Amino acid sequence: MKVGGRVRVPGDKSITHRALLLGAMARGSSHIGGALTSLDARSSARVLRALGAEISPLRAGEVVTVRGAGRLRRPQRTLDCGNSGTTTRLLLGLLSGHRFPATLTGDASLRRRPMRRVTVPLTEMGARFEEPAGDGLPLTIRGGPLRALRYAMPVSSAQIKSALLLAGVAGGVEVELREPTGRSRDHTERMLRHLGFDVVEREGWIGFRPGGRIAPFDLQVPGDPSSAVFLVAAALLAEAGELRIAGVGVNPTRTGFLDVLERMGGGIAVEDPVTHFGEPVADLLVRPATLRATEVAAGEIPGLIDEIPMLAALASRAEGTTVFRQVGELRVKESDRLGLVAANLRAVGATAEVSGDDLFVTGGEAPPRGRVRTAADHRLAMAFAVLGTLPGARVRVDDMVCAAVSFPDFPSALRAIGRRAA
Ligand code: S3P
Repeated sequence: MKVGGRVRVPGDKSITHRALLLGAMARGSSHIGGALTSLDARSSARVLRALGAEISPLRAGEVVTVRGAGRLRRPQRTLDCGNSGTTTRLLLGLLSGHRFPATLTGDASLRRRPMRRVTVPLTEMGARFEEPAGDGLPLTIRGGPLRALRYAMPVSSAQIKSALLLAGVAGGVEVELREPTGRSRDHTERMLRHLGFDVVEREGWIGFRPGGRIAPFDLQVPGDPSSAVFLVAAALLAEAGELRIAGVGVNPTRTGFLDVLERMGGGIAVEDPVTHFGEPVADLLVRPATLRATEVAAGEIPGLIDEIPMLAALASRAEGTTVFRQVGELRVKESDRLGLVAANLRAVGATAEVSGDDLFVTGGEAPPRGRVRTAADHRLAMAFAVLGTLPGARVRVDDMVCAAVSFPDFPSALRAIGRRAA
């Protein structure tokens, strides 16, 4: 295909969740422009409404108003977090500082995802849990008076880090955290700082000190780099043209994929940077490129964790063997992403294998052809749909509807960048 035009991608999922959660904790009305309106964002809005926040309908192009009461209220029913791990884990942090019981559940994918990674340190802070399903959902939390926490996290995860920082906010206690390998996204730290809280980093520890109530705020959500990556990849694989993706978040804890693509020979220009609410935002300018393999080190993984399906699919078109080191975390995402990325690459004729926690992908030139099983994982669906744009490709993705978890109207966005070039 040929690509062209200037497009935007939907609002950042991580920032939208955090803005909804913090807006619900503020006393008064906050306004969120450019919010993501996908199924995951709606899951956050739905559970926060059940916890007493007034949130206007999430509609594309409309500013979302969140009216919080300064605290959450006891819910009358089970909180259904849908497919969203971020909603669940961050909410558990906030609920830890509230003295009422709440039961959380989700869809089949979310119910099998591990929750002890947050319930164990939250228990240390003073929250109590009933976990009838073992390490997963449904579970019931009862928050309480919390204690300060100093905690070396066993995995680098923004969801664990954010849950614990938000427990600090809701419970009014100090929290100190350390991540083991690489830095996960730091949107929570940036937002809390922007809202006037004391969040500092010293000698590898992130320190939060409580500082009163959250004041209502106005925020403009940047485009999601984890959605932009699919259009970036389509443009890199195109035969000709140039694509500009405007207003994408380029927080350095999210742009590891740009460094990897640069090493692969697909350098992307980052233009016209500005800062909104403590977050850097810029345009990405992408041209088709011939790609070569690279090695992605363990320390880089937290900074590109959600981009691995697309990067692995791109590696299947690069010369040589690309290695992604220590990507075991992918086994506990919306699907067993590690196993399914490799299996689906093989299903479309590429060479891919998992050895221990490492993923190896060898590039080739034959058009990808075959059936892709997504297990309803949005990022797998979109990554393989992009491979399907190659000349001669015949890629059948079993479920494209799941893309709406993070990228509403993805199929038309992908078609549009091709059409614009015509
Ligand atoms: C997210 C953190 C990441 C990421 C997820 C969103 C967040 O998970 O995979 O899509 O918004 O904090 P982990 O931090 O658990 O790796």
